Amino acid sequence: MAHLLAPSLLAADFANLQRDVEMVNASEAHWFHLDVMDGVFVPNISFGMPVMEAIARHATKPLDVHLMIVDPDRYIQTFADLGADVLTVHAEACTHLHRTLSAIRKAGMKAGVALNPHTPVEVLRDVAQELDLVCLMSVNPGFGGQSFIERTYAKTRAMRSLLDEEGAPEALIEIDGGVGVGNAKALVDAGANVLVAGSSVFRAEHPLEAARALACF
Ligand code: DX5
Ligand code: ZN
Repeated sequence: MAHLLAPSLLAADFANLQRDVEMVNASEAHWFHLDVMDGVFVPNISFGMPVMEAIARHATKPLDVHLMIVDPDRYIQTFADLGADVLTVHAEACTHLHRTLSAIRKAGMKAGVALNPHTPVEVLRDVAQELDLVCLMSVNPGFGGQSFIERTYAKTRAMRSLLDEEGAPEALIEIDGGVGVGNAKALVDAGANVLVAGSSVFRAEHPLEAARALACF
């Protein structure tokens, strides 16, 4: 399967959000990646429902929502109603992860789990069948523009093996943080299916060209 590119709007110009959403619509990118942060699970607050509602009004591609919040169960139906296609929760924020993933699917979305850099892939072995996507954090979540953690290549290979062993080869592996032209191909070669890119797209001199370089290889 060809890989997908999901530009992260965290790096967009929030004062020109419609312009930046339309840039992604017109680009070779496949999804929108929306980073929702609560200031508790991560040391930053990004945006919430009203901003997502505004984005959804203009976006013409699937919305991949990454919840960096505690107790995400409270908002599953809300994000379904807002138009999320993929809803990703953090394993570290879920006491009953199996229940949470089932609830996401029941609400009609693809169910994703994100793992912080320190969390081993093994925590997902017993929920592999309930997963549509695993988001491997290649930075500590909370901010854009951080340096890629090199260990992520080995973790991607380990995650791919685990998903195959557990009969979930169709589950997508997404890499989030510090992705750019310098590591994109190696990540796909290691087994990644979705590349999130914030700064490397929106802070590029020519965002459309940057998106093309990351989406088409
Ligand atoms: C980090 C977010 C990422 C972030 C990626 O907590 O989950 O999606 O926006 O930004 P870059 O690509 O700039 O590292
Ligand atoms: Zn993210």
